[in-house]
Amino acid sequence: MPSSSHSHSFRLTPTDYSALVERATAGPELYWKRESERLSWNTAPTHAQCEKQSWFAGGMLNASVNCLDRHLETRGDQKALVWQAEDAGRVLTFTYKTLYEHVCRMANVLRDQGIQAGDRVAIHLPSVPEGLIAMLACARIGAIHVVLFGGFSPEAIADRLADSGAALVITANVGRRGAKRIPFKATLDAALDLRPETLAVNAVLVVGVTDDEVGMKPGRDRWLASLLEKAAPDCAPQNMPSSAPLFLLYTSGSTGKPKGVVHGTGGYLVWASYTHELVFDHQDGDIFWCTADIGWITGHTYGVYGPLLNGGTVLLFEGMPSSPAPGRWWNVIQDHKVTTFYTSPTAIRALMREGDAVVQRYDLSSLRVLGTVGEPISQEAWSWFNDHVGGGRCAFVDTWWQTESGGIMISPVPGAVREKPASATLPLPGVHPVLLDEKGTLREGATEGVLCLKGSWPGRALSIWNDDGLFERTYLQPYPGYYFTGDGARRDEDGYYWITGRVDDVINVSGHRIGSAEIEDALATEVTIAESAAIGIPHDLKGQGIVVYVVPRDNAPDDLHIRAAKAITSKVGRYAAPERIHVVPDLPKTRSGKSVRRLLRKIACGETEGFGDLSTLADPEIVEALIRIIQTPQ
Ligand code: WTA
Repeated sequence: MPSSSHSHSFRLTPTDYSALVERATAGPELYWKRESERLSWNTAPTHAQCEKQSWFAGGMLNASVNCLDRHLETRGDQKALVWQAEDAGRVLTFTYKTLYEHVCRMANVLRDQGIQAGDRVAIHLPSVPEGLIAMLACARIGAIHVVLFGGFSPEAIADRLADSGAALVITANVGRRGAKRIPFKATLDAALDLRPETLAVNAVLVVGVTDDEVGMKPGRDRWLASLLEKAAPDCAPQNMPSSAPLFLLYTSGSTGKPKGVVHGTGGYLVWASYTHELVFDHQDGDIFWCTADIGWITGHTYGVYGPLLNGGTVLLFEGMPSSPAPGRWWNVIQDHKVTTFYTSPTAIRALMREGDAVVQRYDLSSLRVLGTVGEPISQEAWSWFNDHVGGGRCAFVDTWWQTESGGIMISPVPGAVREKPASATLPLPGVHPVLLDEKGTLREGATEGVLCLKGSWPGRALSIWNDDGLFERTYLQPYPGYYFTGDGARRDEDGYYWITGRVDDVINVSGHRIGSAEIEDALATEVTIAESAAIGIPHDLKGQGIVVYVVPRDNAPDDLHIRAAKAITSKVGRYAAPERIHVVPDLPKTRSGKSVRRLLRKIACGETEGFGDLSTLADPEIVEALIRIIQTPQ
């Protein structure tokens, strides 16, 4: 097996690991109480797990103190954050001491703007240090950060600002993508103008990433740099209860409306630190590079909190994998001697296509652990990454988790859990997955089923913002007694898990979750469309691609395709652009009027037979009609 060729010594042996599993299973209360000691508390919690989702009750702490202040004595001059700009020659290095000062200045600016504990602050930035600094600054004063992905459309931003009730937004004049400029400020302005009566935003602070001028609204917009200059480099941290929300992060589910997943402070931080140390075999001197944007949970837990809690060094790269030329990512690994590289199967598939010669030009011998997340990885991509990037020497962690879990749940542990290419392998100590059949009956042994989790864990989200019952309804009620993940999985004879993908109506495009209903809601805003269905189909590069069926109203215009595409990109964002849009006379429906997605999926994949019993359809003929339309070149 690949792990036998590892030339490194890892923190844990298989025996240590088994001992952890045993302790976590035999006495979870004691186990997690002990794990909570990895944080520095102002008041230690009285217990670990309590009723429902709340962890470490009675505990009081501050997240930024845990990421920064407590390392100052021992690691003040150690690198905490290294930012590699798009331009090869430009690198900014922050030690724990200087990062602390930047965070304090930003926290003081936020306080001066009237932000208090519990207020929501939205962060809408490209990959610049200010993103991480702003997150920790919010945490310092007890404000709840809400990071908004840079790829969201103005509509999507407006919805999330309204739902979160954010009082202030931190954005940039522009972002850089090679020579291109991404209009961050202009996109935010458009969002703020859409439905101003629903918004609570009264201040916008702008990071000048370049010298580009942008419109500034007097009284509302300010350049951040001038405020930071005047701010003091110390800021008293707010003491927060363990259960206080640390951040909201919006994610898609099977309902149309994106959900603001609420993560707490104590439980989330314990999970971020625990999983980062275990899964990435964190050791002193590691340089940790997580390529995920901070707009996603991976960027939160492993781009910011996990490594900083553990006193590590975070590398942040502004640019893209292959800009200005193929090999740029490998160049970054070589220049910064990255030890731990965490990325997505989508990125690996794209990089594989550039050929082996590109990666061979670089010295990647600093790498010790490789990780992937976000979607199933194929055996081919796994092997390529392992052999050509890792040189066959590195531990490989295929990590399964989700926004709601706060951190990694199922993954190999370097040195302790033998890898199998393309398997997420075993649950971390203290995590208890089960496989159920559709009726909710437990399936034992080697089998397949709906992946659920038994019991709670410290990183589990507290709730959904603005809708307390929704967490229960979405995750706890579908399979009573278990947490429902939305994924399907297979378990082999060694107890290893192989994630097969979503079992709900969530489409995973390049590792981004997009709800079918979100796309259908967007299409419903186009008046010439009567109804629609969005489904996911396999895609070579993106993992899944979106295919949309639209049923026009009478007298629909000829440019319906264009209108449909525009409705999706303007409501959701360009990352949700469909591969194909089919204009069809109707959808296959049951007699009760429900679209049969199983059929739509098969038809979109080009299948022409094996549809099973169609007699339950209101109009069985429609299947033939759809097949003809799909086969006609557009
Ligand atoms: C999928 C990302 C297969 C899964 C951290 C999950 C994976 C969803 C893996 C969560 C993996 C994540 N193998 N599938 N290793 N990791 N997924 O919330 O469908 O953006 O439910 O969190 O991504 O996506 P989210």
